[in-house]
Amino acid sequence: MGRVELANPLVLASGVHGSSLGKVLEALKSGAGGAVTKSIGLQPREGYKEPTLAEVEGGIINAAGLPNPGAEAFSAELAPLRGKKLSIFVSIFGGDEREFAAVVKELDPNEFVAYELNLSCPHVAGVGTEVGHDPELVSKVVSAVKSKTEKPVFVKLSPNTDKLVEIAQAAVDSGADGLTAVNTVRAMTIDISSGKPALSNGYGGLSGSAITPIALRCVYELREWFDVPIMGCGGVSTWEHAVRFFLAGADAVQLGTATMRSFAMFNDINLGIVDYLEKKGFKSLRSIVGAAHHKRGLADAAREGTQ
Ligand SMILES: Cc1cc2nc3c(=O)[nH]c(=O)nc-3n(C[C@H](O)[C@H](O)[C@H](O)COP(=O)(O)O)c2cc1C
Repeated sequence: MGRVELANPLVLASGVHGSSLGKVLEALKSGAGGAVTKSIGLQPREGYKEPTLAEVEGGIINAAGLPNPGAEAFSAELAPLRGKKLSIFVSIFGGDEREFAAVVKELDPNEFVAYELNLSCPHVAGVGTEVGHDPELVSKVVSAVKSKTEKPVFVKLSPNTDKLVEIAQAAVDSGADGLTAVNTVRAMTIDISSGKPALSNGYGGLSGSAITPIALRCVYELREWFDVPIMGCGGVSTWEHAVRFFLAGADAVQLGTATMRSFAMFNDINLGIVDYLEKKGFKSLRSIVGAAHHKRGLADAAREGTQ
């Protein structure tokens, strides 16, 4: 996938298991081809008080408030992994280009495969979508990060905008090596016994199968415009979901909420994908990426001789 090598196209999504590196390593051992860390900022953050998670039909709503140990402490956690060649993406956030650059400066001496810039958290003021919905600021952030590292840089986009392509364009024009689509969908639920919002923060971000069609549309739309690697993310829990994202144009998919139960699904989904490709007569995943954009779908992918 571009300059990033993955053993398989399934990647653990950022943050779902908190900020411990242990879960990232466990996912890799359990069959994930790559794994993204919790988003790391310059300073340590405690996050919001409980409740930060609420279950709803088809998913969960979270507003954790980006709790993380801060760049310096996280850099110390990453240091022992040098030489291990693990497919870890480090997710970072900040309020402006200077803060992003400072985080990169702290983390960059460590060994990991790429950055993922979280420009899309829907529930923390001053970072996330407030940065990620401003194409000019996106451009400044990506340029600043690129000037501080040789590592590939993925930009994680928000579905909560009608400027998806414009924002992605700003990122790609400024040197982004890839895109991740998408972060959570801004949402809320209300506790009918107290009559109050269920989360301490009021609103949060919806994840899980409820957002899959939205994420799929974002990936499809991005693939119409861009050639860079795309990681699809949103409610993937079966091989069928993963295949849909590949057909829409994703080179890899990230799994978040579904992995809260267990990491066993990585192997099952990988087997399902291999079996599907075999049954359809394709030798590689590459052949079907973006096939839904062809007039006759897979039939055209096959005709192009790319099996
Ligand atoms: C509890 C929780 C914490 C999350 N933390 C982060 C985070 O720190 N950074 C980030 O970019 N995305 C974060 N996300 C979003 C996920 O990485 C992912 O984009 C989203 O959940 C959609 O994928 P899914 O439906 O497979 O979970 C978080 C999601 C959840 C549920």
